[in-house]
Amino acid sequence: MRRKFNVSIIGGGSTWTPGLLMSMCKMKDRFPINKLTMYDIVEDRQKVIGEFAKVLLREEYPEVNFSYTTSKEEAYKDVDFVFVQIRTGGYKMRELDEKIPLSLGVIGQETCGAGGFAYGLRSIGDMIEIINDVREYSKDAWILNYTNPAAIVAEALRRVFPDDKRILNICDQPVNLLRSYGRVLGRNAEEFEPVYFGLNHFGWFTNLYDGEGRDLLPELKEIINERGFIPVDAEQRDKSWLDTYAMVKDMVKDFPDYLPNTYLQYYYYPDYKLSKLNPDYTRANEVINGREKRVFEECARVAKAGTAKDCEMVHNDAHGEFIVEVAESIAFNKGRIYIVILENNGIISNIQEDAMVEVAAVLTANGPRPLAVGKIGTFYKGMMESQLAYEKLAVDAYFEGSYGKALQALTLNRTIVSAKKAREVLNALIEANKDYWPEFK
Ligand code: G6P
Ligand code: MN
Repeated sequence: MRRKFNVSIIGGGSTWTPGLLMSMCKMKDRFPINKLTMYDIVEDRQKVIGEFAKVLLREEYPEVNFSYTTSKEEAYKDVDFVFVQIRTGGYKMRELDEKIPLSLGVIGQETCGAGGFAYGLRSIGDMIEIINDVREYSKDAWILNYTNPAAIVAEALRRVFPDDKRILNICDQPVNLLRSYGRVLGRNAEEFEPVYFGLNHFGWFTNLYDGEGRDLLPELKEIINERGFIPVDAEQRDKSWLDTYAMVKDMVKDFPDYLPNTYLQYYYYPDYKLSKLNPDYTRANEVINGREKRVFEECARVAKAGTAKDCEMVHNDAHGEFIVEVAESIAFNKGRIYIVILENNGIISNIQEDAMVEVAAVLTANGPRPLAVGKIGTFYKGMMESQLAYEKLAVDAYFEGSYGKALQALTLNRTIVSAKKAREVLNALIEANKDYWPEFK
C-alpha cells in the first residue's frame, strides 16, 4: 500500500492557506495525506480558515483527519512534513516595512532593501523557535519553509542548525516565472528543465530546456522583447504585480544574457521604481484591502453555507502546488528538478561556499542533490556578492545585536547605497520594531 503522510501547516491563519488546501485536494493522488493539522498563534484568524477547511475537506478530501490548533504539541507531534509560512508582525508590520523606507526616499518592499531587512530581523527569532519545537516532537520531519525574507531566514537557520539536513527553504517565484514562460510559449511548464542561479529574490534563468533538450530561452527573450511579459495568472493579479512582470522586458533589454527574477527590478532600477511607488498606498494596503479581505470573507461565507462547491477563492496555484510537489518528490523519491535554496558548497564555483544560493536541484528522499552551475560572469558575481554581503551582515546584526553591522548591511544594499540614508532608515526601523528586534549596541 502507498504511504500517507501527516502534515502540519504553521501559519494556518495565513491568506495563502486556503489556496494551499485547495492544492492539497487537487493533488491528493500524488501526495496523499493522512492527518492534516493547522497551527497558528493568532487564534481568531486561524478559526475562520479552519472552519472553511472543515467544509472543503469534508467535500473534497474526506479521508483526511483534520484539525486546527494553537497547541505546539498537537501540531508538531507525529508529523512527516511541516509547511511553514509565518509572517511575524502580520500585515501591519509589512505596511511599515514598506512605508518607512519610502517616506525617507528609498525603496520600501516586503523582502528587498530596508523593508526586507526589518522583516528578516523579525522572522529569525520565530523561525528558530519553530525549528526547535518541531525537533522536540518530530526529529525526522521535513520542514519546508516559505517564510520570508527567505534569503535572510535561510542564512540564519544555516548558522543555528548546521547539521539539520531536513530543513528546506523554498520560494515560489521561480515557479511562477516558469509557469508564466509556459503561458507565453503556449507550452506546459511541467516539461521545462530550468538552469537557474542566484540568491533568493535575486537570480537568473540561464537556460530553459524542453523535453527534447532544446533551449527555449532565446525564443522566449524575443517574444518578451516584442510583446512584453505577464504572469501565468494575470487575470487574478493586482496592478502592482502586472507592473512588476512588465519590468522584465526592460531588464532583458539592458542585460540580455539571461531571464531575471522579477525582484531584480528593485536592484537594477532603484530610483525609477522609487518614483513609481506610492508611499501612502503600498502593496501591503493592496493586500489588506484586497486578498486578505476577500479570502477571509469567502472563508466565512463557505463555512456558513456549509459547502465549498461554488467557492471563489483568491489563490495562486503555483504557490500552493509547488510546496506539495516538493513534498511529493521527497516523499516518493521522485527525483524531480526544482529550484530551491541551498548552501552553495561549490554549486556556483566562484561564489563563496557558505552562501545560501537559489539553484536547481534533484529532490530525492535523501534530500536535494544540486545541479552544478559552474563559474558565473563578472557582472552577476558582483551583483550577487554585494547582496550576499548585505544578507550576511543583516544576520550578523541580529545575532550580535550590532548597530554597526546593521548600518554596514543597509549601506551595501543597492536599494540604499548612501550610508547617511542607511542610518536614517535604520533608526526609524529600530523605533518601529522595538517589540521584535534584539537590543542594538
Ligand atoms: C511571491 C514571492 C513571495 C512573496 C509574494 C508576495 O510569491 O515569491 O516570497 O511573499 O510574492 O506576494 P503579495 O501578493 O503578498 O505581495
Ligand atoms: Mn519568495
